[in-house]
Amino acid sequence: MRVIRNLALLALMSAPAVWAQSLFAAASIVAEQAPQEVWWKHAVIYEIYPRSFQDSNGDGIGDLNGIIERLDYLQSLGVDAIWLSPIYPSPQVDFGYDISDYEAIDPQYGTLADFDRLIAEAKKHNIRVIMDMVMNHTSDQHPWFIESKISRNNPKRDWYVWRDGKGPGIPPNNWESVFGGSAWKYDPTTKQWYYHKFYAQQPDLNWRNPAVEKAMFDAVRFWLDRGVAGFRLDAIPTLFEDPQFRDEKPLGGTNAFGDPILDDNYTNDLPEVHDVMRSLRKVVASYPGNRVLIGETYLPNIQELDKWYGGASHNELNLPMDMLIGFIDKLDANLFRERIDDVETKIHGNQPLIVFDNHDNPRSWNRYGDGVHDDAIARVLAAMLFTVRGTALMYYGEELGMVTTPPARVEDVKDPVGKVGWPKDKGRDGERTPMQWSDSTDAGFSTAATTWLPVTPDYTTVNVQTEEANPNSMLNWYKKLIEMRRTDPALHDGALTMLDRTNPNVLSYLRKGPPGSPSVVVALNFTAQSQTVSLDLAGIGLSGNSVKTLLTDAPSLQSATSLKQIELPPFASWIGSVQ
Ligand code: NOJ
Repeated sequence: MRVIRNLALLALMSAPAVWAQSLFAAASIVAEQAPQEVWWKHAVIYEIYPRSFQDSNGDGIGDLNGIIERLDYLQSLGVDAIWLSPIYPSPQVDFGYDISDYEAIDPQYGTLADFDRLIAEAKKHNIRVIMDMVMNHTSDQHPWFIESKISRNNPKRDWYVWRDGKGPGIPPNNWESVFGGSAWKYDPTTKQWYYHKFYAQQPDLNWRNPAVEKAMFDAVRFWLDRGVAGFRLDAIPTLFEDPQFRDEKPLGGTNAFGDPILDDNYTNDLPEVHDVMRSLRKVVASYPGNRVLIGETYLPNIQELDKWYGGASHNELNLPMDMLIGFIDKLDANLFRERIDDVETKIHGNQPLIVFDNHDNPRSWNRYGDGVHDDAIARVLAAMLFTVRGTALMYYGEELGMVTTPPARVEDVKDPVGKVGWPKDKGRDGERTPMQWSDSTDAGFSTAATTWLPVTPDYTTVNVQTEEANPNSMLNWYKKLIEMRRTDPALHDGALTMLDRTNPNVLSYLRKGPPGSPSVVVALNFTAQSQTVSLDLAGIGLSGNSVKTLLTDAPSLQSATSLKQIELPPFASWIGSVQ
């Protein structure tokens, strides 16, 4: 099990523990456009792991110029925005999530000039660029931390979380790193310990010091001024720690690293973080063009997710990620229905952000697949992702059916956590393998003799070039869904109504068309058995008489004309228009 999944599980287990200064006048927030015009509300956002997307200079590592080369592809897929995982200068211990300079580009990925060109070229393709912003911690090689370590009275000392130990060799308390072991590291020079929620090379910033907020908001403005469309906020619920540094409560049992499982009440989602989110929202909202704030928010329940939007005040994040749907990890129609209902009714009309895949978790192909119907199951998930009411977030390669390929030997592991957790936790390399563009050398990702992670062997058949040529490929399934979502008025803005609510096997819902236009009905078979559904729309004032299939992977349903009896083969998806 992956680390980030551990966090999510911990969050779920530790409920009510949660997971997961105004610089501008409040009036500046009105610069945001009216809700129906906001671009990100209907967007498909595509996460790029730049190391693995396209290598343009033959060093085996993806780069910014590589992304530029692939903008035509992204446009043809129908992507509205790309989120780049971190490309700042970094020692790369955590592959960019350990930042040593917030206002530059790591030479491995290119230059600031390349970045500016990416923004400009992406714009020509109607694609916006979203940066990853890591505000919880820096690299231990960041000049701020290097200074902070010098002495107890260095001006930067208080930018990080320093504490005396409980005694010789004994850390200040029992807090644990997400990546295993104590969250405290001893510094022999100043004889104190510093706190790191993640790797020891990622010391946590002290958000109780206003200078930290100022420095971080300055970095945010630096990129907003360069034209980025917004930020994905890394590990954002972990900004603050308990000011009394109390021990966390053991919940019983041990994790993949052999550490006791603790609740995280004192290191996660402290109320103070919401003040920072409101201030940050004001900074971002003072820029034109509806810049967006997305949160990496693993949370235990919908009530906690709602708080990250600012609830009825709508004044924190625009799009905290809903991990409650995409990481259910079993095809349970009742649970999916319940969680979709939750975002429909319990987040004060805020916009859901649905996501199944990212660079921290095994791909959904493997988390949901049964080894027999993986392709059909992946289509069910994609059909849901693009037809429920929400913003869709996808991860590179998901559209091809790329699989998780963990390293076979511990000596091949690149993600440090995979070395510590081996073999129980093999790290996150498996979901970060190079993008599969073609069946040629290095899958068209690179021309290097070796790539930073090996290409997955199935690239000879699972790749963009091959799939583009096959009308029934996963890639074309994604393209059709995205196109449909873009052009169909019911899928664009229509209200969602669940149908056939008590059916434990099939998830069905309707997206209501505008007056005079058809509505869209979706029926997804979550089981390995054929299922017959009969959908009655009388309750929502539709006759349901005129039915036309828009998209299905079941040949038998291509010409369905009635909702009275829809026979869905195992894991089939059916999307139809109805009057
Ligand atoms: C979440 C990121 O997605 C993950 O890759 C990283 O290791 C941690 N945050 C720490 O920054």
